[in-house]
Amino acid sequence: MQYSLVSFLLITSSLLVSINLQLSVRAADTAEYANCSQPITCGSVESSLSYPFWGANRPEYCGKSGFEVTCQDTVPMISMGSVDFRILNMSASGAVIPTVTVAREDYWNDICPSNYVNTSLNFSLFDYASGPQNVSFSYCNPNATTAFVAMAATMGVCNSSVQVFFLTETQTAKISSQNTNGDCSNVVLVPVSATATEELDNNKTSIQKAIDGGFDLNVQNVDTGLCNNCVASGGVCGQTTTDTSFMCFCQDSSSTKACNGNSLTNPNSSSGMYLDIYSISYN
Ligand SMILES: *[C@@H]1O[C@H](CO)[C@@H](O)[C@H](O)[C@H]1NC(C)=O
Ligand SMILES: *[C@@H]1O[C@H](CO)[C@@H](O)[C@H](O)[C@H]1NC(C)=O
Ligand SMILES: *[C@@H]1O[C@H](CO)[C@@H](O)[C@H](O)[C@H]1NC(C)=O
Ligand SMILES: *[C@@H]1O[C@H](CO)[C@@H](O)[C@H](O)[C@H]1NC(C)=O
Ligand SMILES: *[C@@H]1O[C@H](CO)[C@@H](O)[C@H](O)[C@H]1NC(C)=O
Ligand SMILES: *[C@@H]1O[C@H](CO)[C@@H](O)[C@H](O)[C@H]1NC(C)=O
Ligand SMILES: *[C@@H]1O[C@H](CO)[C@@H](O)[C@H](O)[C@H]1NC(C)=O
Ligand SMILES: *[C@@H]1O[C@H](CO)[C@@H](O)[C@H](O)[C@H]1NC(C)=O
Ligand SMILES: *[C@@H]1O[C@H](CO)[C@@H](O)[C@H](O)[C@H]1NC(C)=O
Repeated sequence: MQYSLVSFLLITSSLLVSINLQLSVRAADTAEYANCSQPITCGSVESSLSYPFWGANRPEYCGKSGFEVTCQDTVPMISMGSVDFRILNMSASGAVIPTVTVAREDYWNDICPSNYVNTSLNFSLFDYASGPQNVSFSYCNPNATTAFVAMAATMGVCNSSVQVFFLTETQTAKISSQNTNGDCSNVVLVPVSATATEELDNNKTSIQKAIDGGFDLNVQNVDTGLCNNCVASGGVCGQTTTDTSFMCFCQDSSSTKACNGNSLTNPNSSSGMYLDIYSISYN
């Protein structure tokens, strides 16, 4: 009886030592939780961007590699091809497929860019959500007489040597391709939302409002199921710094799955052993 009481005390005190060791190791994880709980903030403007996005105040381990955001003044941006996209909004966490609303920076407040570049996505990061349609911008010699001239209401003047015509997909379908000629050889496709397309077709909005409203993209190849479980358990999503696999950062620990005693703690992390003991002693 006495013997087992002594061994009980011995085991208990060794557990306490382990817990104390673990507490001192835990400080680093708490910083990860604190850092990754913050949305991307550009200047003084807090955005709605969280996992898988990182950059600015969010270290890379708070996101997924590839989804790097940079701030241009107060605006979060992501680059694809040679085009910068403003990220206007992100769906609330918990969505089955996260979406973001983006707008081309070079067409922001100005449909006369200095370079003609089509919209091209990196499909390993994003895909078009259902809805967005292309508006095609044709940059023409003002002396050109094409079918576009018949649609003069959709014309703008960039400068003395370039006029711009823009057509929705519905309008493009009505124009015979043989009516386009070499004087309008620069064509740029820019997506706008389904709502904006309809409003353009009904003359209910301006081209600039349609463009600046942005269009939705589905965020691809993120561990959405894992992340939703992590968030539901009180954690924030991120990745390991070593092999960039998914990590759930909990308030006082980290896990490859979610924040609860039964979840698998990362055996590769230096605090893994202590975390296991911690789980056993409290569950
Ligand atoms: C994480 O947050 C801590 C403060 O909680 C800060 O000192 C540290 O610089 C941050 N780490 C990174 C990589 O930003
Ligand atoms: C697309 O994104 C992936 C993932 O970050 C990256 O490895 C690849 O280089 C990107 N492709 C291009 C063309 O930028
Ligand atoms: C941003 O997205 C959230 C979540 O979908 C939505 O509730 C909110 O209205 C959106 N904000 C803007 C300005 O579109
Ligand atoms: C005229 O406008 C077009 C379209 O924006 C632009 O590419 C071109 O550089 C401008 N030309 C001059 C002389 O400003
Ligand atoms: C953009 O794509 C359209 C359709 O594929 C093409 O006709 C046009 O030449 C492209 N424009 C540029 C600037 O590459
Ligand atoms: C715009 O047109 C390009 C080229 O035809 C196409 O690949 C892309 O999917 C279109 N975008 C939208 C939003 O429909
Ligand atoms: C348009 O035509 C006028 C008169 O023929 C000519 O002076 C001018 O250079 C032309 N403009 C362009 C952009 O070709
Ligand atoms: C929009 O305006 C253009 C030019 O004024 C006109 O040709 C077209 O019929 C209008 N469309 C609608 C749906 O009112
Ligand atoms: C631990 O590291 C091994 C070898 O680097 C790797 O295969 C495994 O996926 C890692 N496990 C976790 C949970 O990160």
